Amino acid sequence: MTHKKALKHNIFKTISQSANELQLDSYVIGGFVRDYFLERGDAKDIDVVAVGSGIELAQQVSKNLPTNPKVQIFKTYGTAMLRYDDIEVEFVGARKESYNEDSRNPIVENGTLQDDQNRRDFTINALALSLNPSNFGELLDPFKGIEDLDKGIIRTPLDPNITYSDDPLRMMRAIRFATQLNFKIEEQSLKAITDNKDRIKIITKERIVTELNKILESDKPSIGFKLLEKTGLLDYILPELTALKGIDEKEGQRHKDNFYHTLEVVDNICKTTDNLWLRWAALLHDIGKAPTKKFSKKVGWTFHAHEFVGSKMVYKLFKRLKMPLNDKMKFVQKMVLMSSRPIVLASEVTDSAVRRLVFDAGEHVDDLMTLCEADITTKNPKKFNKYHNNFKLVRDKIVEVEERDRVRNFQPPVSGEEIMKTFNLKPSKEIGIIKEAIKEAILEGDIPNEYDAAHQFMIEKGKALGLNVVNV
Ligand code: CTP
Repeated sequence: MTHKKALKHNIFKTISQSANELQLDSYVIGGFVRDYFLERGDAKDIDVVAVGSGIELAQQVSKNLPTNPKVQIFKTYGTAMLRYDDIEVEFVGARKESYNEDSRNPIVENGTLQDDQNRRDFTINALALSLNPSNFGELLDPFKGIEDLDKGIIRTPLDPNITYSDDPLRMMRAIRFATQLNFKIEEQSLKAITDNKDRIKIITKERIVTELNKILESDKPSIGFKLLEKTGLLDYILPELTALKGIDEKEGQRHKDNFYHTLEVVDNICKTTDNLWLRWAALLHDIGKAPTKKFSKKVGWTFHAHEFVGSKMVYKLFKRLKMPLNDKMKFVQKMVLMSSRPIVLASEVTDSAVRRLVFDAGEHVDDLMTLCEADITTKNPKKFNKYHNNFKLVRDKIVEVEERDRVRNFQPPVSGEEIMKTFNLKPSKEIGIIKEAIKEAILEGDIPNEYDAAHQFMIEKGKALGLNVVNV
């Protein structure tokens, strides 16, 4: 049976013809073939193996394409890449590889297609479709990759100890694919990951984070984080999360397992948002609980100021993982810092508390509500419904308060300059006091968020401070 349907784009005909002109064999391999059989939509990244020079094949293909696209050559890796339409094609010569103990960079020799399939990470990624005119579209599946696709299994073509030790990034990839595809990692493989976990140290932080992001972008990231935890990789990558594991009991009082709670929150939030950074916030929202955990006879287990401590930990964690220390990081910090605020509100919804929430969360108030709703993991259906109903009230109230008071991205209705002019003041602490009092009066609902009321309030406040009105 051939799979010409997978190769309907005219680029494949051109590659086939070009390889024929150079008298070499060529195959499509890897993610493109896997995703075709998984019916995951048309992949835009195509990997082509040439039994010969991948670079020469890329150049020949470029010559034969109507647009003659530029060929980018990566000499060190012996690969070449070109773009055609919205497709990116990467060419590589079939090779045998062996690796050094302390590096991901292989020693490369030319090889056959079978050699090349051997060096691939998983059976489902070693599937190849022939581009040769004699058997165009024929599937070459030496490791029963199709069977593994059907059964939902991640398995390595060779002894998993070799595959993972050769390139330890594959341990992360195995877990990432298991999460994205909801597949099981075969037992020997899972054991090999556990045994080789220390080798993750030779992988750059950036590549690890790429995989973490893909796990977080999946429908159910808990699959991946449970596997990372089970294999011991999580201890290397995010020890802040493993520190949340476990339930302590003292004098009959227990707290919840904050690791599994966190994973539930992450899965919940994935149902309502695709925002990767909000998903990161869900993952990290409780990390401050490990260092702040205390037991007191009176109140039981407490995690005082865990939101503040957690938000400080976010910076260190991002820095350690070489993640961007930019607005995204600040957003995650803010979400962690404010992660308990709406929960308090959910029991009693007052106007002033809602105004303060909108004021403090600013443009991120909706994201904060999404995070806090995902944080409801109670298994008691009565409580579950009550909390969700209260959150609905809070959301309605936010809209109402916003329409009336416009405190999101609050701008003081009376400026510092005007305060100075009114009381003929030089820059001084009184200006700050009056400004703060106006803001407080608005947030408390004592005065509306309007110029006239704020101006009148300023005059009264100034007088109370013993200031004279010079210009009205
Ligand atoms: N590959 C590998 N080991 C790696 C990375 C990649 O053996 N550490 C091989 C696999 O055969 C893989 C192919 O190279 O299918 C292409 O890799 P890549 O483009 O990174 O991944 P895809 O499998 O295409 O999947 P995705 O696009 O989802 O990352």
